[in-house]
Amino acid sequence: MSDTSRPAGDAPPSLARRKLLLAGAGGLAAAGLGTASARAADAAKPAAAATSAANPKNLPPNVAEFSKVLGDGVAAHPYGKPSKFEANVVRRDVEWLTASRESSVNFTPLHELDGIITPNGLCFERHHGGATEVSPHDYRLMINGLVDKPLIFTLEDIKRMPRVNRVYFLECAANSGMEWRGAQLNGCQFTHGMVHNVMYTGVPLKYVLEEAGVKANAKWLMLEGGDAAGMNRSLPLDKALKDCLLAFRMNGEALRQENGYPVRAVIPGWEGNMWVKWLRRIKVGDQPWHAREETSKYTDLLEDGRSRRFTFFMDAKSVITNPSPQAPWVHKGRNVLTGIAWSGRGSITRVDVTVDGGKTWQQARIDGPVLEQSITRFYVDYDWNGQELLIQSRCHDSTGYVQPTKDELRKVRGVNSIYHNNGIQTWLVRTNGEVENVEIT
Ligand code: MTE
Ligand code: CO
Repeated sequence: MSDTSRPAGDAPPSLARRKLLLAGAGGLAAAGLGTASARAADAAKPAAAATSAANPKNLPPNVAEFSKVLGDGVAAHPYGKPSKFEANVVRRDVEWLTASRESSVNFTPLHELDGIITPNGLCFERHHGGATEVSPHDYRLMINGLVDKPLIFTLEDIKRMPRVNRVYFLECAANSGMEWRGAQLNGCQFTHGMVHNVMYTGVPLKYVLEEAGVKANAKWLMLEGGDAAGMNRSLPLDKALKDCLLAFRMNGEALRQENGYPVRAVIPGWEGNMWVKWLRRIKVGDQPWHAREETSKYTDLLEDGRSRRFTFFMDAKSVITNPSPQAPWVHKGRNVLTGIAWSGRGSITRVDVTVDGGKTWQQARIDGPVLEQSITRFYVDYDWNGQELLIQSRCHDSTGYVQPTKDELRKVRGVNSIYHNNGIQTWLVRTNGEVENVEIT
């Protein structure tokens, strides 16, 4: 399919204040699932007014209790864990979303994070056959098909090759998939939490291909996982040679089991499904394999019954993470509005934010590293006087593309698809600071 199915959202037409559609009013809610989504979001709401729970004995001018005793010795935590006061900062899943835990997903708590890097223990997980446990001793990577020399690498073989460090986002193609038919889930963890951003250490896939010697007629690779799902995807050879990695570290330490330990594929800017975990085989061929994950799944069913296939790129997208339904504003006056933006086609060049449902926009302040195919952090330092707000963010990328509205997307893509929903998200901030997932129609 051509690029007509990828609308560039120019500055939207005057978004005069229109009818609001609240979360749960759309598609799946109509099927009776709305209450379940509300439950999932409620469970994720922060305990109200935690600051009022202070122990007066610990407040100035007293010397606090914690200042009068020695703390834990250095050996207490050989592997450090977050403070017990951060127990709310966890991945969450939506119970009714999938039939089994082994073929399911949980979500990154985006509203609890800042900067651009996702901590390893909070990276969302998506498995089709459970999180496989592979001993590094048993790990082998095979390469066969259209090669001069079929090879088998051990983990140590891979680790001895020249390595690089790169920060990339991974977004599941199904991120925001529940929102195609209307506002659905109350929390950016659930609407946008199938994304994480990690610094990978790994070996360019190109080195392994060079060692095996790719035949002249080779055009595609098949990447195959060592999990019970044997999950496999076809990857164009050009992309493999350009920037793909065999990663064995994330944020400096070994990959976590759930993210593909000991080796996963890194496919920068392209849909998460192609980042095969527990990678066991690379087969070289002259055409794609039309595997299950690129025919019955990860294709985008259009209104006229045709499907877009091999829609690899994750287009530019952004979301305001604070305030959001799980992170209401509790304070009138100075507040930090913040969010994240990313593009599979390049870097983020600008993020606009509106607080009046699109009538007026202001440019957000970007802070922290701005990298290609990476999450970028933005802020609006905002003085809130308690008025109702309709907030949205809209990002621009280095190709000149502007994030479209959900309606612009629906016009060209219909509502049958689950995948590649990068439309602009709206949050309604009520006068009491509570926030709700809505759509302006
Ligand atoms: N690789 C294998 N072997 N098995 C899987 O189920 N899931 C894919 C991809 N790689 C999967 C896999 C999907 S759909 C996504 S979105 C990403 O892994 C998720 O990566 P993560 O669990 O590290 O977030
Ligand atoms: Co996925």
